Amino acid sequence: MKLLQAVILAASVSFGAARTFTVFNGCPFTMWPAMFTGVGAAPDFATGWEAAEFTAVSFTVPDNWEAGRIWGRRDCDFSTNPGPNSCLDGGCNGGLVCDPVTGTGVPPATLAEFTLSTNPSIPDNYDVSLVDGYNLPMSITTNVGCPVASCPVDLGPDCPAPLIGPFDSTGFPVGCKSACDANLSGNPANSPNCCSGQFNTPATCPNSGVEFYSYFKDNCPDAYAYAFDESSGTALWTCASTLAADYTVTFCPPPA
Ligand SMILES: *[C@@H]1O[C@H](CO)[C@@H](O)[C@H](O)[C@H]1NC(C)=O
Repeated sequence: MKLLQAVILAASVSFGAARTFTVFNGCPFTMWPAMFTGVGAAPDFATGWEAAEFTAVSFTVPDNWEAGRIWGRRDCDFSTNPGPNSCLDGGCNGGLVCDPVTGTGVPPATLAEFTLSTNPSIPDNYDVSLVDGYNLPMSITTNVGCPVASCPVDLGPDCPAPLIGPFDSTGFPVGCKSACDANLSGNPANSPNCCSGQFNTPATCPNSGVEFYSYFKDNCPDAYAYAFDESSGTALWTCASTLAADYTVTFCPPPA
């Protein structure tokens, strides 16, 4: 009997384990969350949905979810030609439901990024990334007290002039582009803003070479603000995989 219980327990740990993710829209307006899986098994949930203000959804995610990302889309209209341009930012191939293979978000878009682990010696990794620019404030929290990853500030209104936009119909900025996506250097294939070409290592792409890095990092110190931001010590976050954390992604979290 003991052995049978042990076998059943082992089986449930190996095959039944999953994490619960909750995505909450704390913004005082409708937005459209989206989800993409870079490697392996995907969550058994839609890759895009409409979220009215102050509503949440929960779903399970494989406990080895890899290169997973969740982001928000603003000012969408899927009634004609559903696709990447159906939203002012964050839109994807597919329209409301993002294509599972090609449906990443159109920048600028704040991203919640995850690589979970089932190996006890390798932690979960997660971050709130501004590498593709900013379009909504966001936080990642856990139910086990692991560090909060966040960009809780609206980076649109004070965004530096070369990066600001797109704008909604009232002229309000609903995004702030990265210096890379804004093509400030004029050559995205070999640019210190993109950490590309001859600047493609942490040593050759220091944050001091990324234009407007400090605008993003000073306002959102616990976000991942450029391609090699690990060295800041407050970009990439970990949570022991043995804790099997559940995660909440909150759009427009309360100010820190
Ligand atoms: C970036 O800017 C350069 C110089 O203006 C232009 O030639 C190039 O096409 C731009 N690249 C992209 C991807 O927009």
